[in-house]
Amino acid sequence: MTQVKVVLPDAMETSLIMLYGLAMDARANPSILGDSIAAHACDRVDYDFTRLRSPLVSPKDMSVKVAARAAFFDAWTNDFLAAHDEATVLHLGAGLDSRVWRIAPGPGVRWYDIDLPGVVDARRDLFPDHANYQLIAASVTEPGWLDRIPSRPPVLVIAQGLTMYLPPDDGRAFFRRITEHFDHGTVILDTHSRLGVRMVNGMLKRQFGAALLRWAIDDPRELERACPRLRCTDVVSATSPAVVDGLPAGAAPRGSRFFARLATLIPPMRDLSAHVRYEFGTGPAVTS
Ligand SMILES: C[S@@+](CC[C@H](N)C(=O)[O-])C[C@H]1O[C@@H](n2cnc3c(N)ncnc32)[C@H](O)[C@@H]1O
Repeated sequence: MTQVKVVLPDAMETSLIMLYGLAMDARANPSILGDSIAAHACDRVDYDFTRLRSPLVSPKDMSVKVAARAAFFDAWTNDFLAAHDEATVLHLGAGLDSRVWRIAPGPGVRWYDIDLPGVVDARRDLFPDHANYQLIAASVTEPGWLDRIPSRPPVLVIAQGLTMYLPPDDGRAFFRRITEHFDHGTVILDTHSRLGVRMVNGMLKRQFGAALLRWAIDDPRELERACPRLRCTDVVSATSPAVVDGLPAGAAPRGSRFFARLATLIPPMRDLSAHVRYEFGTGPAVTS
């Protein structure tokens, strides 16, 4: 197996945590996602994965968290694609996530994975090609790349594990640009509260020597005020029992169902991180 030397500085390095988590999950029994493409890509990465070990989170807990979040966003992606055979998907800050292979979108879907150039180079070396799929090497907050994407609605914008890395003003301006570029669509993203950003930055400082998170969102409706076309339709705490209960029996560590229920009673814990869905524009009515 050819090894690929991967050197990713700053926020880009965090994409390796996600790949490692998905690969560990693929080898677990039971597995949440069974993502063999991620496992194969991870095996080819020449990188010291012991760097990713956190003294605060066990590798197993980290892997379950990564796979549970990915499974949740996969389900929202599948909901959208079940309603729209013809669509554009913008997978922002895609990192080393093999989502396009897990979802296997139909022929009417154009899928774009966007990340910073170093990550896109690593993706080109690690993953096979896919039909109707394009990689874009850019910062999502640079205006130029979006102008090159046909504004063919509906669009699904996926920003899993991204917003917190963006400078807040640039992030708000970016989501405004998206809702101006496309007539209608759905945006799914996750947020960290101010406390969540402080806690994760503390961990990142210890592991990578830098606090990388910049944008805290305490109330996901803040984004509606910044982008008037967005309407928030769903907010689900990342620690919600709904996230844990959706996992295969035996996949989550013991006690996680109890902790998920406990967190609902403690708002600062419940609100550390949220999975959020927005709609914009109306689009044609979906008939079933
Ligand atoms: C925690 S990783 C998440 C990766 C992937 N979404 C996942 O959940 O597996 C954060 C990703 O955001 C990317 N990122 C950070 N700032 C970015 C920006 N301004 N434009 C594009 N990607 C960015 C990083 O390079 C990294 O791949």
